[in-house]
Amino acid sequence: GERLDFRTSKQRLLVVANRLPVSAVRHGEDSWQLEMSVGGLVTALLGVKEFDTRWIGWAGVNVPDEIGQKALAKALDEKRCIPVFLDEEVVHQYYNGYCNNILWPLFHYIGLPQEDHLATTRSFQSQFDAYKKANQLFADVVNEHYEEGDVVWCHDYHLMFLPKCLKERNSKMKVGWFLHTPFPSSEIHRMLPSRLELLRSVLAADLVGFHTYDYARHFVSACTRILELEGTPEGVEDQGKLTRIAAFPVGIDSERFIKALELPDVQYHMKVLKQRFAGRKVMLGVDRLDMIKGIPQKLLAFEKFLEENPNWRNKVVLLQIAVPTRTDVPEYQKLTSQVHEIVGRINGRFGSLTAVPIHHLDRSLDFHELCALYAVTDVALVTSLRDGMNLVSYEYVACQESKKGVLILSEFAGAAQSLGAGAILVNPWNVTEVASSIGYALNMPADEREKRHHHNFKHVISHTAQEWAATFVRCELNVTIVEAQLRTR
Ligand code: ADP
Ligand code: F6P
Repeated sequence: GERLDFRTSKQRLLVVANRLPVSAVRHGEDSWQLEMSVGGLVTALLGVKEFDTRWIGWAGVNVPDEIGQKALAKALDEKRCIPVFLDEEVVHQYYNGYCNNILWPLFHYIGLPQEDHLATTRSFQSQFDAYKKANQLFADVVNEHYEEGDVVWCHDYHLMFLPKCLKERNSKMKVGWFLHTPFPSSEIHRMLPSRLELLRSVLAADLVGFHTYDYARHFVSACTRILELEGTPEGVEDQGKLTRIAAFPVGIDSERFIKALELPDVQYHMKVLKQRFAGRKVMLGVDRLDMIKGIPQKLLAFEKFLEENPNWRNKVVLLQIAVPTRTDVPEYQKLTSQVHEIVGRINGRFGSLTAVPIHHLDRSLDFHELCALYAVTDVALVTSLRDGMNLVSYEYVACQESKKGVLILSEFAGAAQSLGAGAILVNPWNVTEVASSIGYALNMPADEREKRHHHNFKHVISHTAQEWAATFVRCELNVTIVEAQLRTR
């Protein structure tokens, strides 16, 4: 295969993802403020530095007027971002509808929405049509900015139709596609009315990547069972064309976190937090407020722990930072009220005039506050019911070199395959097991904490976002998968 020396020539890379790394907030007709977006995809891709990268994605807001569009495109250009403008109706049907009400719950084993949400099969079809239309609009923008020799890297379940759209326009374009969520068992994927079309469009890519071998295996099974294609050790073959399929577990820019801990601002936040919670052990949850994160299950396990361990009641606090996400989707609105209700009940039951056991924040934290929280807390609690990877667990480990806190991690997160040996693995559905793991973590002796942390820390600093992206792009440029993967080990 072709070889490139990334130290001397910077490969041009077009990253195409629904979400841009910055989200726009309008301030007047032609003035925009850009804020950092939250989510695993953004965290991973911001760590990628060795390519000459342009990022193509949905602007995140409805901008019907040309003046506004031009101004926003200009502001984004400074961040090397190129916007795709989608009108309100398309966003409703494509993003809120097909992506987050159909594909997201299905890929996380929650299933398809019940009929009262879906209304009629016509509405399913119209959401799928909007999905395809949105993907075509992404393809238009890619085409406009594509230069020969570029590597195009499409991301996530929002853009499963994109590889096909791109190849139809230019069969020579190098196209890769990576999924940031789990790919479910083929038995689950079979439920999707548009199952054939989506698989076929993904297979138009040259390289298809997943976080874990299990997800890759599920995808290959879906292709062999549903499309009746041939699976080979390298991927899937269709009429002589091979689509390579492999696992590329993502990581974080660990150095960014480790270095941040030295900053005066982060040190200041750490000091304030230590004073605020002096004399108590602190447990931490950081999630998008999403049904896959198992936040109610986490709260119920904490309640059970307090119920069974009265001696801990004034000695431990849970800080749950949950940033609102996809707030126009009804299931997410329901979850917010459910979480608030449980927090209220537990605080009412176990709180006192001076302290409550759960501090729940419905917002995102800035990077410095987040690092400080990761560094000073004793236990991190990740209870995802399913999660593609879960980078919060990586970030916690990266910030725990001095404290050596304990990570309680759901076995249903992709990260369980990489951090399982150092973490306490739990089944989040088993509230009793999670409650007893909380007790185990809080009482864990220093030498065991150190051993567990050391194991995970080594992994987090050696499997970074930079390596992840470099490995994927090298494979896309035709270096054999085995060779590229060996280099990252
Ligand atoms: P997902 O991709 O489902 O959002 P991950 O755990 O992989 O889950 O990634 C979440 C990313 O978003 C992490 O980088 C984390 O730091 C960030 N994040 C999540 N919740 C918050 C929050 N409340 N405040 C700030 N950042 C957050
Ligand atoms: O990991 C799942 C994911 O889709 C990421 O790719 C993304 O960063 C995150 O969820 C945030 O979701 P949204 O873009 O809908 O806010």
